[in-house]
Amino acid sequence: MKRILLIVGGGIAAYKACEFVRLCRKAGISVKCVLTEGAQHFVTPMTLAALSENQVYTTLWDLKDETEMGHIQLSREADLVVVAPATADLLAKMAAGIADDLATTLLLATDKPVMAAPAMNVRMWQHPATRRNVAQLRSDGVTIIEPDEGPMACGEYGPGRLPEPAALLDHVQTCFGVNQMLSGRHILVTAGPTHEPIDPVRYIANRSSGKQGFAIAAALAQLGARVTLVSGPVTAPTPSGVTRVDVETAREMANAVAAALPADAAIMVAAVGDWHVEAAEQKLKKGEAPSTLQLSENPDILALLSASPHRPRLVVGFAAETEKVVEHATAKRLLKGADWIVANDVSGDVMGGADNTVHLVTADGVEDWEKMPKDRVARRLAERIAHAL
Ligand code: C5P
Repeated sequence: MKRILLIVGGGIAAYKACEFVRLCRKAGISVKCVLTEGAQHFVTPMTLAALSENQVYTTLWDLKDETEMGHIQLSREADLVVVAPATADLLAKMAAGIADDLATTLLLATDKPVMAAPAMNVRMWQHPATRRNVAQLRSDGVTIIEPDEGPMACGEYGPGRLPEPAALLDHVQTCFGVNQMLSGRHILVTAGPTHEPIDPVRYIANRSSGKQGFAIAAALAQLGARVTLVSGPVTAPTPSGVTRVDVETAREMANAVAAALPADAAIMVAAVGDWHVEAAEQKLKKGEAPSTLQLSENPDILALLSASPHRPRLVVGFAAETEKVVEHATAKRLLKGADWIVANDVSGDVMGGADNTVHLVTADGVEDWEKMPKDRVARRLAERIAHAL
């Protein structure tokens, strides 16, 4: 039986730790919990003791055999240390190597892999101090589970929410090497917009944030796939375990896709610009606006790949539509030679937003998926891909 030591930090998201413990137990993972002083204001040791069916530790002085270095033992008998929620304060202490309570002492003393799931107010998450601490922890080998984006308990909106307990369990299972359904597979993912230059400083672009494509790349990597992510210009961080190739234009993306073959599957999520213009070599002057922009078609990367002799076994396209979503997607599947089309209605705030409502169009028909966060769409799609390969 796998064992985790769960360190619960003092944030409102601590309530999710309870469900996480329950899911771990259901999955046959043994859990010992440590609560910081702050965490005890949000959940009680009694709750976690009942759910984990284990003693819960809150202070260094709980350890009965401190003479026998109880804190060292507790930090090492688990296979994995999970910090959830990891507050800004806890991350800062971890990054600095401060050990002034049981949780931080265990984190400094452990010789086991550490996974931290930060959760905090969006401004705290984006503060340069937290950015520095997270970067430090990553380079120290700590696995950081990116927080979800959405409405927060404090009334603000943005990244900083603790991922759902089921998602945390997925990360733990991945770490334990379970769920590696895609190991040995190479999967190509395109994501983000393209920038089509008009002159050296101006370009034509679209509103794609790359979020859905990056989440799919992350979900595939979590299932053990070797993932090449060809990305247009976006600010999203590269998911762990993913090889990223940055491109700017559709033509560069087409070349990068061809260079990344062979692949077992290709998931084309990028919002590729349909046209490019012959870019001026020098910056166009303000008073000399060209009266027309001569647009030329970009290569259709998805269609070319589907028709290529190196066609991956499974080719999945996306179809962003603002009307007759399924109808257009069904036609697009045949037109472009894709096996599946993931159709989404982008008439709302999908582009750049956290949630997505999609329909999966395959040769067998159409499946309507309920509205869900983009990373859940990604996980569900990754599992479908794993079963299809
Ligand atoms: O034709 P449309 O742009 O709606 O098709 C969307 C699908 O085709 C997406 O999977 C997108 O990544 C892909 N595509 C492409 N190359 C293009 C245009 C779209 O690969 N030039």
